[in-house]
Amino acid sequence: MGDKVKMTISDFKKFKEEGRKFSYVTAYDYTTASIVDDSDVEIILVGDSLGMIMLGYKGTESVTMDDMIHHIRPVVKGAPNTWVIGDMPFGSYNVSDEQAISNANRMIKETNCDCIKLEGGVEMLSRIKAIVGAGINVMGHIGLTPQTASSLGGFKVQGGTPESAKKLIEDSKALEKAGCFSIVLECVPSVVGKAVAEAVDIPILGIGAGPYVDCQVLVTQDLLDMYGDFKPKFVKQFAHIRKAMVDGLNEFHKETISGEFPTPEYSFNKKVEIPED
Ligand code: KIV
Repeated sequence: MGDKVKMTISDFKKFKEEGRKFSYVTAYDYTTASIVDDSDVEIILVGDSLGMIMLGYKGTESVTMDDMIHHIRPVVKGAPNTWVIGDMPFGSYNVSDEQAISNANRMIKETNCDCIKLEGGVEMLSRIKAIVGAGINVMGHIGLTPQTASSLGGFKVQGGTPESAKKLIEDSKALEKAGCFSIVLECVPSVVGKAVAEAVDIPILGIGAGPYVDCQVLVTQDLLDMYGDFKPKFVKQFAHIRKAMVDGLNEFHKETISGEFPTPEYSFNKKVEIPED
């Protein structure tokens, strides 16, 4: 705690060149951001997955720019020593390059996050070039792209055929050329993760993309076993915080109804004479 130094844009390339692995998690609020900031994890994504995790939606499509900005601001405040990514929500960049620049500008200006992330391969080149040209750091996202998962046949492993694997390699090269400084690669076979990571000079940040990529990404509520609804195959639970929270809440409830809590230790014990009516 205390000696963490925030990554810079040039560190991303340097880490790749040096073969130095790094890690990346989500946060959507001040407290979680400050906990990640106290850890060694280098990157926070304020992902549109907040639709499910924070807002209880079924998917990410309904998340708005206002929702994103509302959540990114406290994360930036809570994690001054961690690189913070703002996720562009569905509908905020699919109309035109102008719309994409305008929303990316808004995300950076109103939150002070370090970069934006958007989903899509070669079909997004013009948007990526436009935002990079406006002076904003862009992280790409290919493979399983949750915002358009229905057009990919649902939440399924991508790149499972030679043609689709080749398309992911071409997408990654095109995104690098367009100016992305790194790319999230989601839900692909490990061999495809390896081939994509070897195809480009920028880091490939894998979530369900196997061990050969440059960085591992997980949703914090998944890796700490806080989100009760669903556990994807690629999620390892490194702690069981949901159970610890339920146990703590039950202990509070038990001591409240038994009168054990609060003892004088947790009470203000100054003597005050209460006037009688
Ligand atoms: O929104 C999100 O959490 C993401 C990760 C799955 C990378 O995009």
